[in-house]
Amino acid sequence: MQTEAIGYTFGRQALPMLWDYIEMNPIEHTGGWADTINSIFTNIDHLSQIPSLPLITSERQGFGATHASATRLPYPDAFFDAILTDPPYYDNVPYSYLSDFFYVWLKRAVGHLYPDLFSTPLTPKAGEIVAYSNGEGGFEAGKRFFEEQLALSFREMQRVLKPGGVAVIVYAHKSTAGWETVINALLDSGLVVNAAWPLNTEMESRLRANESAALASSIYIVARKAERQGVGLYPQVRAELRQHMERRLQRLWEEGIGGADFFIAAIGSGIEVFGRYEQVIDMEGNVIRADALLDEVRTLATDFAVRQILHNGFAAEISDRARFYVLWRWNFGEARVPFDEARKLAQSCGLDLSEEWARHGGMVKKEQEFIRLLGPHQRDLDDLAAGRDLIDVLHHALRLWEKSERSALIQRLTESGYGASEAFYRVAQAISECLPLESKEKKLLDGLLTGRSRLQEEVRQARLL
Ligand SMILES: C[S@@+](CC[C@H](N)C(=O)[O-])C[C@H]1O[C@@H](n2cnc3c(N)ncnc32)[C@H](O)[C@@H]1O
Repeated sequence: MQTEAIGYTFGRQALPMLWDYIEMNPIEHTGGWADTINSIFTNIDHLSQIPSLPLITSERQGFGATHASATRLPYPDAFFDAILTDPPYYDNVPYSYLSDFFYVWLKRAVGHLYPDLFSTPLTPKAGEIVAYSNGEGGFEAGKRFFEEQLALSFREMQRVLKPGGVAVIVYAHKSTAGWETVINALLDSGLVVNAAWPLNTEMESRLRANESAALASSIYIVARKAERQGVGLYPQVRAELRQHMERRLQRLWEEGIGGADFFIAAIGSGIEVFGRYEQVIDMEGNVIRADALLDEVRTLATDFAVRQILHNGFAAEISDRARFYVLWRWNFGEARVPFDEARKLAQSCGLDLSEEWARHGGMVKKEQEFIRLLGPHQRDLDDLAAGRDLIDVLHHALRLWEKSERSALIQRLTESGYGASEAFYRVAQAISECLPLESKEKKLLDGLLTGRSRLQEEVRQARLL
């Protein structure tokens, strides 16, 4: 049902600046003042009836709710059987800044009851483990701070865990930098990773943001305080990684994990191997860190995904550009993507993104710090007519099909050789399957594919002439 109502201040985890204002009458309408007050009363009434848990009341035994930084836990060594933590996800949410919105009111309302929690005029910011890139030193300094502080908190967890104790760490991030930091922090923590598995944790409504490729899942990393395997030699660890990931990726695929979530879950599988070692070194003794692991994982996951998306058999026949195109649509749909993420995806397909973007008639476009993959309508028709790659020919064919230029379409498919190639139609089918129903590109692809047998027959006839 559609209602006229006042939107929430926190529609997402930010306080956006809005230039429009409420035009409805807040006193009389549904969702107005009276409704809001009533729902607050209902919630307070409900919450006040929940009995206190013994856990929260027995602070003298060392349990209860305590307020401290994760980097300095007020507990002795080997104290806990298990620790579950949900740390900040790199730069996703500026918690302390958003908290100020509530803090200033809570301080006035209940500050006198909890003077130690409300001692400062605003929330403390310095010890917050978030990668802010707007401070001195910019992105690099924010990344370093996050990694160091996260490593400190993981080491604290390791310290307060009993031998054999379990640590569960929840994490999710779309960017490679976000994962590099958490993997390096884990490698430095002394914890041994046993398993990493995605769980579907996000609300559907949040995922509908169409300009970004949102994740549906978070990765649950399960680790133990145990002896590690010592130093691993990279060639061996790599072989182990390949074997382990082939099995894991198959399972993830069968579980229906797709798009951006598949790559993130693949990183989890990579950590399962990498995280067993004290340290991984190459033959010359150089220490291998998360960036190399992530490159390897991305290449393995890319290969696997292309094979699956094209239903095996055709992956080897298609160009790097076509692989890149298919994977992008599968991974990000029609969303634009930060440059570095796009570059890494291109790299895993053997493609140089800067070259593609600088190239006349290329299929990517730079929009400030983002990259957009151009669909058939966003590319120049003359460039498409001159292009020789599968994606160029496909885009050209789609434009000709759209304009019902049948003979030009048959000629293009015949002369390029793609009209008789099974891989060509498989790629078209795969792209269509990656796109949402309302996508214009999907509609064109489906249109072309519906008349596929007739097209192939006409191409066959044309070749005989
Ligand atoms: C992903 S959120 C956890 C959300 C929580 N699971 C929930 O459902 O409400 C990460 C939390 O870590 C907190 N945090 C950031 N720096 C911290 C630090 N140094 N010590 C302890 N907590 C910290 C943030 O304030 C934020 O509340």
